[in-house]
Formats: sequence, structure tokens, C-alpha cells
Amino acid sequence: MKKHTLLLFKNRRPGETVFIEEYRKQGGYTALFKALREMTPAEIRDTVKASGLRGRGGAGFPTGTKWSFFPSDQGGQKYLVCNGDEMEPGTYKDRVLIEADPHQLVEGMIIAAYAMQIPTGYIFIRYAYKNAFDCLQRALAEASEAGFLGKNILGSGFSFELHLHGSAGRYILGEETALLNGLEGKRANPRSKPPFPAVRGLFDKPTTVNNVETLANVPHIINGGADWFASLAYTEGGAGTKLFGLSGHLESTECHELPIGITLGDVVREYGKGVWQGRRFKACLPGGASTPYLTAEHMTVPLDFAPLEQVGSRLGTGGVTVFDDHTCMVEATLNLNRFFARESCGWCTPCRDGLPYVSWLLEKIEKGQGTMEDIDNLRHQVHNINGRSFCALAMGAMGPVESLLRLFEEEIVDHIRKGRCPLKS
Ligand SMILES: Cc1cc2nc3c(=O)[nH]c(=O)nc-3n(C[C@H](O)[C@H](O)[C@H](O)COP(=O)(O)O)c2cc1C
Repeated sequence: MKKHTLLLFKNRRPGETVFIEEYRKQGGYTALFKALREMTPAEIRDTVKASGLRGRGGAGFPTGTKWSFFPSDQGGQKYLVCNGDEMEPGTYKDRVLIEADPHQLVEGMIIAAYAMQIPTGYIFIRYAYKNAFDCLQRALAEASEAGFLGKNILGSGFSFELHLHGSAGRYILGEETALLNGLEGKRANPRSKPPFPAVRGLFDKPTTVNNVETLANVPHIINGGADWFASLAYTEGGAGTKLFGLSGHLESTECHELPIGITLGDVVREYGKGVWQGRRFKACLPGGASTPYLTAEHMTVPLDFAPLEQVGSRLGTGGVTVFDDHTCMVEATLNLNRFFARESCGWCTPCRDGLPYVSWLLEKIEKGQGTMEDIDNLRHQVHNINGRSFCALAMGAMGPVESLLRLFEEEIVDHIRKGRCPLKS
């Protein structure tokens, strides 16, 4: 196992949480002092842009670019929102990060708020994350007590209030504009974009939404510098590390911080300790339930944004779910699609009606009652839903279905020819 630098998990000890005393002993909050005392807001925005940090919430949007669109110089109310909803199946890295070392997120948010001159922030956290909620509540109290939150932080003249908000508990609340509606106490449907949140966000004010892991990287970038952060990746053009949450049919299913660009094969063999029970690798979702499958042919693909897009998938959230060769891929896809259909907020027709119909088709095939026309029909649904739904939930749902058709068509046909699931006796 090659040695690599840890940032987000450098203080992590299984089963324990690092609070302020130890965080500060390990260099915590030095980035905040540096940012507030030695850097202008524009210098921080430029450093984050130069670091190459891309959003860790799924879409991979360049963080510095997002911050550069923000009306930082405009006075008045503006908001910073941290997205900790994390309800995508197979994704649990934000929870692990918060439970291990919550002050990184708090420090990252204060620096981000200073960089965009934002006076108020919210951390929006998944309903089921009770322990992570408690860890953050304590971290916020400690940061306030130390004078890192509130008025005139470290005598800089900059003030920032940070609040914690528990989600009502639906997957759609992770979509940033639905999240803003949820925070306002409204029905959590997505909003149309434009206007983007940077222009009209929470309570109609300019708002930046970033993921937990994205914001937790900020203190490390300020301390180490943009070039150092970029150099941590194994890929040319990649930057930083990534939290990979392993799950599924592996011998070891834990969350690891690894350099961006590590290959899928290294993750499976070295960190997942191989496919369980001596079985063979059949497929994986490389970045959560909404990313297209990879197969054994993709073992040498670097887990980075561009290389994964080149092979038809996405880095997404970095939740790597592995399926062994005893898995029926039709059944696995049906299971995923049922989740997305259930979680549709019902706002737009392709998602509300399209996803249950896709589940119906997959179930029919899985039961051995499908026809060859059903395959064409599935393809048509993927084509029809992609790009036509109001937000990316339905498009994400089509990731596994599209790749099932592309990579496992023979297995679908086998169900139809045999009139049963070939993997069931
Ligand atoms: C259905 C759906 C669910 C999402 N869930 C999350 C989530 O739980 N956490 C998250 O950070 N981003 C989630 N996103 C992406 C957010 O809309 C947004 O892109 C992200 O929070 C931006 O942060 P980043 O740029 O730091 O990645 C979701 C998107 C969709 C369409």
C-alpha cells in the first residue's frame, strides 16, 4: 500500500470524535488566523480557485469558480449553506468526516464566509444523522466560546453566525434548491435555475451551497497552498484527496481518504481487501447510486472526474458499491430505481411518472415476463427522461439504467429468453 497524505482524516481515530482542544493541538484553526489576519477575501477565493478543488457533493463543479460568481462585494444579507443531507444510497463519507473531526467543517465555513463576505450560515444535515448532529452542535458551541463565531471574529471586523438545521428526511432535500425551500419551511421541490442561488437563494438572497467535504478541504488549502493541494492527486489535472466510502460485496467496507486519481483496481484490492467470499468482481457504482456502472474492464481507470466521464460514468460522491458475480444486475438496478421512484418529489412528469414506469419494466424483465420490446422501451425511457426532468434526480436515476442497457444487455436478453432470472434456480 503506497503511503499518501491525509488531510481530512489525519486526526481520525475509529469510534472517537476530535473536539476543539485536540483539533487546535493538531494545528486546527491556524488557517482561520492566517485567512483573517494575512489574506483578503479575494486572495482566498483565488487560492481556492487555483487549488483545483471541485465540489464533493456529486456534480463536481469547481468550487473557486462558484465562489467567483458570488456577489461578494455586495452588502446586505447573504447566506452560506452547507449541504450535509447525504441520502444517496452507498454514500456515507460526510457522516464519517463529521463524526471524526467536525471542526474542519466549522473552520472551512468561517473561512468560506469571510471569502464571500457572508454574515450567516446554515449546516443542513440528514435527519438520521443524530450523532453527527450532536458532534456539530458541540463543535459550534466550542467555536463560539473560543471567539471563532459571532461578532468581530479575532478582531478582524468580520462577523459570522452559523446555525445547525436537521433535514426533514427526503432524498430530494439534497438537491440544492429543494434544500433552500426546505430551509425556508416550504415544500421541498426544486426551483428553476436561473436564477441560480448565487443571485437568488435562501430567502431570495445571494447564497452559496457547498458540500461538507468540499468545505472541510478549505482550511487545508489555506494552510498548504493551492499548488500543494493540487499535487496530492495522482492524475494530471486532478487535485486533492477524496473520501471513498466502500460498500457492497467487498471483504472490507470502510471509508478511506485517498488521492484523487487512485485506480478502481487499487481501491478494490488494497482498501476493499478484494471481493468477498473469493468471488469475482462483476460491477460497481463508482460514486453513489446515481452513477453509471463500471465493470472489471475498468480496473485501471483513475477515480477522477475526467477519466470517469471518458468511460461513461462519474466520480459523484465517491461512494463505491461493488457487486459480485452472483448478482443479477437487472435486480440490482430495479432495487436502485425503486429508491429513486419512491424519493421523487413529484414536481415534474418525467420523474413522477417515468421512474415508476421504469421500475415496472425492470420488474417485469426480472420476473421473466419481459419481451424484446421492453428493452427498446427501457432505452426510450432513458432517452426521454434524461435532460427533461426539472432537477437532476431523474437523470441520476437513469445512470444505472443506461449503463445496464449498455454493459449488461446480454443479461437482460437472457432473462427474456429463459423466461426467468438466470441467476435464480
Ligand atoms: C437529488 C439530488 C440529491 C443531492 N444530494 C446531495 C447531498 O446530499 N449532498 C450534497 O452535497 N449534494 C447533493 N446534491 C448536489 C447539490 O444539488 C449541489 O450540487 C451540491 O450541494 C453543491 O455542493 P458542491 O459544489 O460542494 O458539491 C444532490 C443533487 C440532487 C439532484
